[in-house]
Amino acid sequence: MKGAYLLVLFLSAAVFVLADDAFRPFELIVHREPDTLCCTHLALRETQPFRGLPEGGYTTSRVLEAGQERIHFIAREEDSVWARAEALCGDKHTWDFHTLVHDTASLTFDVRPGQVVLRPAQEDPVPLEVEPLITSGDSDNRVDLVFFADGYTAEEKGKFVEDSLRLAEDISSNQTFYTVKPLLNFWAAFTPSKESGIGTGGKPKDTAFGLYRDGTELRGVYYSKPEVARTTCFSLGDQCDYPILMGNDPLYGGEVITPSLANGPLVLRHELGHSIIDVGEEYDGGYAYFGVNAANDTTLDKVPWAHWLTNLSDHNHHDHEHASQAHAVSPNTARVERSVMPLQDYAWTMLNTSAAWSTKFNSSGTYAWHIVRFSLSGIPDAKDLIVELDGKDLGWVPRGDIGVDRWHYDIKINKTLKGGEHEVKFSLKNKTREGEAQLCSVEILEFGDESEFVSTPGHYSLYPTFSETNETTYRPTNEDCLMRIVTTPNFCKACTEGLWHALLRRVTLIDSLAVGCSASGERTLDLTLVPLAHLREQPVDVDESYEVTWVRDGVEVREWTNQTSVTDAGDAFGSYAAKVRYWTEEVRVDADGLLESEVAYVVMTPCARS
Ligand SMILES: *[C@@H]1O[C@H](CO)[C@@H](O)[C@H](O)[C@H]1NC(C)=O
Ligand SMILES: *[C@@H]1O[C@H](CO)[C@@H](O)[C@H](O)[C@H]1NC(C)=O
Ligand SMILES: *[C@@H]1O[C@H](CO)[C@@H](O)[C@H](O)[C@H]1NC(C)=O
Ligand SMILES: *[C@@H]1O[C@H](CO)[C@@H](O)[C@H](O)[C@H]1NC(C)=O
Ligand SMILES: *[C@@H]1O[C@H](CO)[C@@H](O)[C@H](O)[C@H]1NC(C)=O
Ligand SMILES: *[C@@H]1O[C@H](CO)[C@@H](O)[C@H](O)[C@H]1NC(C)=O
Ligand SMILES: *[C@@H]1O[C@H](CO)[C@@H](O)[C@H](O)[C@H]1NC(C)=O
Ligand SMILES: *[C@@H]1O[C@H](CO)[C@@H](O)[C@H](O)[C@H]1NC(C)=O
Ligand SMILES: *[C@@H]1O[C@H](CO)[C@@H](O)[C@H](O)[C@H]1NC(C)=O
Repeated sequence: MKGAYLLVLFLSAAVFVLADDAFRPFELIVHREPDTLCCTHLALRETQPFRGLPEGGYTTSRVLEAGQERIHFIAREEDSVWARAEALCGDKHTWDFHTLVHDTASLTFDVRPGQVVLRPAQEDPVPLEVEPLITSGDSDNRVDLVFFADGYTAEEKGKFVEDSLRLAEDISSNQTFYTVKPLLNFWAAFTPSKESGIGTGGKPKDTAFGLYRDGTELRGVYYSKPEVARTTCFSLGDQCDYPILMGNDPLYGGEVITPSLANGPLVLRHELGHSIIDVGEEYDGGYAYFGVNAANDTTLDKVPWAHWLTNLSDHNHHDHEHASQAHAVSPNTARVERSVMPLQDYAWTMLNTSAAWSTKFNSSGTYAWHIVRFSLSGIPDAKDLIVELDGKDLGWVPRGDIGVDRWHYDIKINKTLKGGEHEVKFSLKNKTREGEAQLCSVEILEFGDESEFVSTPGHYSLYPTFSETNETTYRPTNEDCLMRIVTTPNFCKACTEGLWHALLRRVTLIDSLAVGCSASGERTLDLTLVPLAHLREQPVDVDESYEVTWVRDGVEVREWTNQTSVTDAGDAFGSYAAKVRYWTEEVRVDADGLLESEVAYVVMTPCARS
């Protein structure tokens, strides 16, 4: 509803006119079991503004790693959010699961005996000391990322703050989130744990959030107290949009963040990609492919990144010219790069020296080149392991400083795999590595030649991705995106654009408009903008600009264009409005007008002359 203003009257001099943007809506988060539809967690609160909120509210839903469905709903009216909550989880009087509801008028219902309706006041969040790491503005107009400490004792607080700062800087100083950094705040929220480190063998230690590993192997880290983490984030209100649970362990943590030197930043930025941009995977073998970087239809207007395609003339017509190619191109159908995945095995197997681990696959023999892609942990030395394809040693060497941490390897072979059966084999050579040496995953990918499969970085087309059940979807680039290649530090352009959109739904470009009088009795209007473009503290290597337009009593004041501070006659009455438009080469489509903001002010009394 553009142009609808909420009038806030002050008893004093002026009428302050806030744009629609400033309206605080209500937010609901529900987790439920997909089969029984039983809710297991619900949080309901007032939340910071959500721009371009559709009339009926905004809903997203996704499946979490553990199989649960997470539903997120935002609406203007508190009643709509309660109605949705009851539609999803049944009558609120019957709720017997973990619930976080901030104190609102609707919370005056009676609590039945035995019912667990927990409010922050009742279930004390763990004690927190919150420190700023990298901040750019007030939490009600920023997206706030908060690191929470698990397995850090009181004496290890300094280490926690250092670990958090190192990760925050890694992902925001010169890569990944660096261009959107002025829209973000990073905080470190410290809670001392009684024991140092995280649990192993399925048993949590006595720590704030009870993180643990299943065995000792580096497959993932699990939460034993998810409700404590949620309550703690909830208790911070606007200051916690995305909680990051940091387990005090030097190695790979799966979805949970650890300060692992090799894996910490890489897991963090990948998981934030999922949660902030709301996209699925781009790597093969996943179960969820959705969002701005995924297509399951090759019709051009169903491809979310159609406006980023490198060479549109490659995608529209000319069936006759390339009739011999395997990918058929018909009108309005995008070209698909030619590749196939003949083998995929998420083995997660411990290796031993008594027998090698091996598996077979068939090739069609019709592709120009191939890749052997695998990930390992617990194998720090090239002498410890031999990786072979059809009996030929592939010459695997570990990443230099990897130690026993997990890492990903690609061995590219620029040759056609012959038609028929092939074998890939992993032989552990060092017995003392048993119990730690693990093959996490292995995959073979085959590709057409450069005319059938453009492998050049920066090329945008439709690249096939194969799911855990070998279903095909498409992604925008070969390997430009960290949602596919976790060792890559950046998103592709489609994801980066999605990131801007997602963040600018929660952040308006205008932090404030201060209207006052100068000492000499002139009217002053000072606009504070989110520090992008020429207002950045650290310049970035992308093209961007701010354009500011001022309107006084409905008439544009051209001489004020692009100024953030202007002065007018002290005895002038009437309305002032500022329109701000941000432009960046990272956004090509802005259907909801998220790169524009407005603010207005009505002056009713003159400045007193001193
Ligand atoms: C960012 O800085 C890190 C550490 O200084 C460096 O390793 C990395 O290559 C830099 N990335 C870019 C894109 O400059
Ligand atoms: C294909 O994508 C559309 C839009 O993202 C989605 O609604 C649909 O469920 C997807 N279909 C399959 C089979 O994945
Ligand atoms: C764009 O695609 C057309 C048609 O396939 C091709 O002839 C042309 O060389 C391509 N241009 C570039 C820059 O790749
Ligand atoms: C996936 O399907 C393609 C053909 O659709 C097939 O060639 C390939 O071998 C399959 N891969 C796996 C791992 O099943
Ligand atoms: C050694 O590894 C092989 C291949 O994974 C497996 O079949 C075998 O059971 C393992 N042996 C022992 C003693 O774990
Ligand atoms: C490869 O193809 C042959 C012939 O169809 C078949 O006998 C064999 O089982 C296949 N191997 C694998 C690993 O699928
Ligand atoms: C494979 O080698 C050929 C010939 O040297 C080269 O033109 C082509 O770019 C290479 N392909 C890849 C994917 O490296
Ligand atoms: C085998 O691994 C151990 C550490 O687990 C290492 O000390 C030893 O040097 C390795 N042996 C060889 C032959 O590389
Ligand atoms: C205002 O700034 C925009 C963006 O930099 C620029 O395109 C425009 O020409 C400027 N207008 C004036 C009047 O300076």
